[in-house]
Amino acid sequence: NDLYAVVGNPISHSKSPRIHSLFASQTGEAVEYTALQAPLADFAGSVHDFFARGGKGLNVTIPFKEEAWRLADCRTERAEKAGAANTLYRDESGKLTADNTDGQGLVQDLTRNHGVTLAKARILLLGAGGAVRGVIGPLLAQHPASLTIANRTVARAEGLVQLFTPDAHGTELSACGFDQPDEPYDLVINGTSASLQGDLPPLSANVIGADTVIYDMMYSLQTTTFNQWALDQGARHVFDGLGMLVEQAAESFRVWRGVRPDTVPVIEELRND
Ligand code: ATR
Repeated sequence: NDLYAVVGNPISHSKSPRIHSLFASQTGEAVEYTALQAPLADFAGSVHDFFARGGKGLNVTIPFKEEAWRLADCRTERAEKAGAANTLYRDESGKLTADNTDGQGLVQDLTRNHGVTLAKARILLLGAGGAVRGVIGPLLAQHPASLTIANRTVARAEGLVQLFTPDAHGTELSACGFDQPDEPYDLVINGTSASLQGDLPPLSANVIGADTVIYDMMYSLQTTTFNQWALDQGARHVFDGLGMLVEQAAESFRVWRGVRPDTVPVIEELRND
């Protein structure tokens, strides 16, 4: 079997080994996929060891995505712009290559699994950290009418607007604080890590209209803090990041193996865990 792994710190709660073994059995690909904890001070050593042992590909998670991006010899276009990598492999010439499948995973989950139309949509994106940077390019590629990036630290959101303005084409791209948005959006995506502390971006309930789709990029067994808030405000279309997690994995699997697994049964199976 060809060897793959997810590397992070901590890593014991990662769902990636389960997701990829479901992909392997579904597709019949000869893939073995494990979890690797890299020491915080020696991510590069763990990566080099893994490939020296014959490893074929790595997924990278918290807190190493930016380091993976820096470490790579070359990057795909989408990874370049994301400033972070969640997928590593060696290309035909042996160069360590970085890719980022997170944004594709989000777009795929929204459009295919939840039937959301992104073209011409008015999107409010909360947060301006690494997670958000990774999804802006793929969202803009769907040609929404507008993409508003709201963040606690407004300057960070403004920096992202500057960075992605060349990719905005017809989309109205702007930055603001949480206090500004005050009317219904078609889609509100939470990409802050506030939920991790059980915290909530201080957002007006007016951003939620009758048809607004709410998406938390976070996933946990219980309804996330953000999604619970949205439900309490009467939101009717509320989704968490489990689908994104499986879709980004499927895209990595496709990059490595040339086969994109069917994600629907895998999402269902994880939901029932
Ligand atoms: P990640 O890789 O998860 O994006 P990050 O780069 O540290 O991690 O970014 C975290 C994001 O969550 C930021 O947008 C951060 O806001 P600031 O840029 O103002 O720091 C946001 N965030 C974290 N905790 C938050 C909280 N309690 N309330 C609101 N936003 C929060």
